[in-house]
Amino acid sequence: MEWTHKHLLGISDLTRDEICYLLEKANDFRTFLDKSPKYLTNLRGYFLVNLFFEPSTRTRVSFEMAAKLLGMEVINFSTSLSSVQKGENLRDTVLTLSQMKVDVLVVRHRESGVPLYFAGFLPFHIVNAGDGIREHPTQALLDLLTIKRKFGKISGLSVAIIGDILHSRVARSLCIGLTKLGNSVVVSGPVTLVPRSIEEVGAKIVFPVEEAIQEVDVVYLLRIQRERQEAGYFPSLREYSAFYGFSEETRKLLQGNFVLMHPGPVNRGIEVASELVETPFSLIQEQVTCGLAIRMAVLDTLIGSD
Ligand code: CP
Repeated sequence: MEWTHKHLLGISDLTRDEICYLLEKANDFRTFLDKSPKYLTNLRGYFLVNLFFEPSTRTRVSFEMAAKLLGMEVINFSTSLSSVQKGENLRDTVLTLSQMKVDVLVVRHRESGVPLYFAGFLPFHIVNAGDGIREHPTQALLDLLTIKRKFGKISGLSVAIIGDILHSRVARSLCIGLTKLGNSVVVSGPVTLVPRSIEEVGAKIVFPVEEAIQEVDVVYLLRIQRERQEAGYFPSLREYSAFYGFSEETRKLLQGNFVLMHPGPVNRGIEVASELVETPFSLIQEQVTCGLAIRMAVLDTLIGSD
């Protein structure tokens, strides 16, 4: 396939064939990751900068590791030690990086649209590592890869996404990706956190949660963001856990062979019972490894298209 996108800004920009192409390439990298020593030289001589204005473990470290596995050099830009602290604005910060001739900028920002803004004037590749409540494309791709490897296919499946849909870029990107590939998606959670607008990206809203998760292949739990409780979206974390958390009792209500997924970080004991995180039907750990494979595929594809 001839790759025509300079940047990865959202799943919404990709066609079904482009998503499948990235999944195929990432599947090969996922197999490669089980071997040692792990070292490729595909992208030797290229430089990647991780520019994260929000905390991250999985995304930031896996982009760093993916780049290094492909032979790239990596700079982790520390916003707390940078001239951002002296009041330098976003535009001047990235223009400065641009003059240092970096090749790829991986950016996470609390405001939706920042990666699109950068793509408008920067000459190098921009990868969106999560922008506000808009998109988290590599998360959706890694989730699709995890599902594909588990079920041996990535269409015709049913997925329930549970939790804070309103503020979740993960839910938006995943809904878009799943529906583009011909899967059905239901969403559920507290009524205050499930907006009607999610239907625009192909999801069906089902209340209560117990009904939404019946007869699905994947139960996908979202992280509850603690600050939401303070904003009054639900009464207390204990109540959230009791009514929307996935417990052993919930599992017993379900029939069929479903799997449990979560983008991380997990609030053990809130959205999911701690003892279920590492069970055989949980893919939460495998999602992390698939994340590394996906980020290798994305970097290899974007730079390979130059
Ligand atoms: N899922 C996810 O984006 O995790 P991090 O915030 O740790 O990167």
